[in-house]
This record gives sequence, structure tokens and C-alpha cells, in this order.
Amino acid sequence: MRILAIETSCDETSAAIVEDGRRVLSNLVHTQIARHQPYGGVVPEIACRLHLEVLPGLLDQALREAGATWDSLDAIAVTRGPGLASSLLVGISAAKGLALRLGKPLLGVNHLEGHICSVFLTPGNPAPEDACPCLLLLVSGGHTQLLRIEKPGVCRVLGGTLDDAAGEALDKGAKLLGLGYPGGPELEKTARGGNPRAVEFPRGGLRHRDPGSPLRLDFSFSGLKTSLLYHLRAEPAPPDGTRLADIAASYQEAVVDALASQCARALEAQTASDAPPYRSFACVGGVARNTVLRERLSALASAHGLPMLLAAPDYCTDNAAMIAAAAYLCPCETGNFDATPTIPLG
Ligand code: KG4
Ligand code: ZN
Repeated sequence: MRILAIETSCDETSAAIVEDGRRVLSNLVHTQIARHQPYGGVVPEIACRLHLEVLPGLLDQALREAGATWDSLDAIAVTRGPGLASSLLVGISAAKGLALRLGKPLLGVNHLEGHICSVFLTPGNPAPEDACPCLLLLVSGGHTQLLRIEKPGVCRVLGGTLDDAAGEALDKGAKLLGLGYPGGPELEKTARGGNPRAVEFPRGGLRHRDPGSPLRLDFSFSGLKTSLLYHLRAEPAPPDGTRLADIAASYQEAVVDALASQCARALEAQTASDAPPYRSFACVGGVARNTVLRERLSALASAHGLPMLLAAPDYCTDNAAMIAAAAYLCPCETGNFDATPTIPLG
């Protein structure tokens, strides 16, 4: 089954062709970062106009690189949300037009399902039936969730953020430190060589259990950002050089530590429960590109004797290949659009 997918939920325009949910024939990503950088964040009005400009050429290129023809496609998939409304609209309109013109089914995909399925796209990672049940940490610019994945499309939320997402916390922290946008990669670069224990920032992890309910493992990152703000106000001068590296490393450490600690608790809670044990531990989303986080989670996985499944860096940040994978792998969750025929997938 050959699926052409479109992703335009935020500031990346992407088109991909993927076979059987795993074989990536093409995956083109046009990032708008440079155009939003002067504003220190994504400007929705600019984002949707750029999607409109770039998408047609990208679709042609995706087809060419895959050596595919329009007729050879079995379905068109598109991110239907969550995301910026005006940006989503560009991708959805294009996908609807293509599906109608080609007479192919149109499949609407949840962006978060896409991130989850990015792990199965990565060469060397096991197929879902060999990886699940899987403990999965989803860390992007807009979302932070800890999930028990029974199979693609079927999961239980063990916890999530109560305020800022992990990526948002890194972006906001980087902004306070005068670094560029997006803040996550800038902060990682600046933190290299810094002392992660130089400043003791708060760790935002909450554990609570309502009577009769399962344990919740939530996150909170808004206090961390405020703590950095107060810390910078107390510094004798704006930090630079080694001091900047120390503060960046300490801030990054607070985010990584909060994430890893909740994952550790989820793994321990599982050991004490009678649910079928996890067969793997995974991390997906833009923040999963962070090497400090990747190393910390890998150590945790090996301490629990589990394989660590990480998405390849190019599949961590937004891309259309993961949307095609989710369209193929989780048919129940794709929420197909009205008035379009659907086909059984998977
Ligand atoms: O998944 P994604 O591309 O978009 C959303 O769906 O939100 O994630 C973007 C987020 C941004 O917050 C960005 O700062 C973060 O991923 N990010 C990183 C790194 N690369 C991207 N965070 C930490 N370290 C990185 N190397
Ligand atoms: Zn995303």
C-alpha cells in the first residue's frame, strides 16, 4: 500500500511517499525556521502563506524522488490536527483536492499518532507487534505525554504536562538566555561543556492518585522558566562564555531530569502491576533529538532490560513520513474525513 502524506501543522511543510507504513520512498521537509527567527517564534500568518507557496513544488518533488506516478498511489493522508488552524487548512485543502481529482481515499491523521509511529519508521527498530506494549515518551514543542502503547492507535495516557510542554520550556528558556529560535537545539549547543549542576533549577514532576484511579505521572515546566527568569535577574551581569554554558546546561538538565524521573517511575510502577510487561521503551518528538535526553533514557532502558527505541533524528521533528506511517498503522484512529470513501488499512 503506497500512501502520499502531507504535513503542515506548524512551521514545516512536508510531503512523503511511504509503502506499507515502513518503507520511505521519499520524505521532503521544508523548514520555515529562518523566516520565523526574527520574531522569536512561529507567526501563524507567515506559516500558512509559506505552506501555500511551497507545498505544490514539494508534492511534485516527493513523487519524482519516489519514482512514483499519481496513479500508483493508493491513498492520500494528511495531518488533521492538532496544530495551527490556518496551517492545517493548507495541507487539508491540498489533500482533499488531490483525493477528489485522483479518486483515492483521504485519510485524516492525528499529528501525535504520527509522532508515535515515527519510531516504527526508523530502520533497525522492531515492528509494532514486536515492540508493544511499549512505554513511550512523546516530547514535542506543543505536547509532553507519557503513554502506554498497546498497539498503534491504542494507548493509555499515563501522564502529561499540566502547563508548558518540554519543547516549549526549552524554547522559552533559550529566549530568556538570548539564544535563537527554536530554542531546543540552540540550548543544547550552548550547554555543551557546561556544568549541569552549576544551578539547581526545580524539577517539575507530579505524582498523584485519585481514589480508585491509576497513578498519574504528570509534568509541570512553567515554574522552571520562572525560576530561570529570577535567576537571571539575580546574576550580577548578563551571563556569557562559561557562565552561559553552565546555566544552559543546568536548565537542560532540569528538563531532562524531570522527563527521565517520570519515565523511571512509570517503569517501576509497571514492575509492581499485573498488566502485561513492557517489551520496549520509546521516545519521539522534536525534543527526542536532544543527545543528553537520548543518553539518559537509553541508560534507563538498559537498567530495566528493555530495548530503547528512538526515532532517527530526521523523524523526530515534524515530517510527512510519520503521517503516512500512522495512516497505515492505526486505521481506527485516523478519523477519516466525511464524504470520502475509506479503505481498510493494515
Ligand atoms: O515535534 P516538533 O518538530 O514540533 C511539534 O510538534 O511541536 O518539535 C519541536 C520542538 C521545539 O520545541 C524544539 O526546540 C525542540 O523540538 N527540539 C529540541 C531539539 N531539536 C528540536 N529540543 C532539544 N534538543 C534538540 N536538539
Ligand atoms: Zn510535531
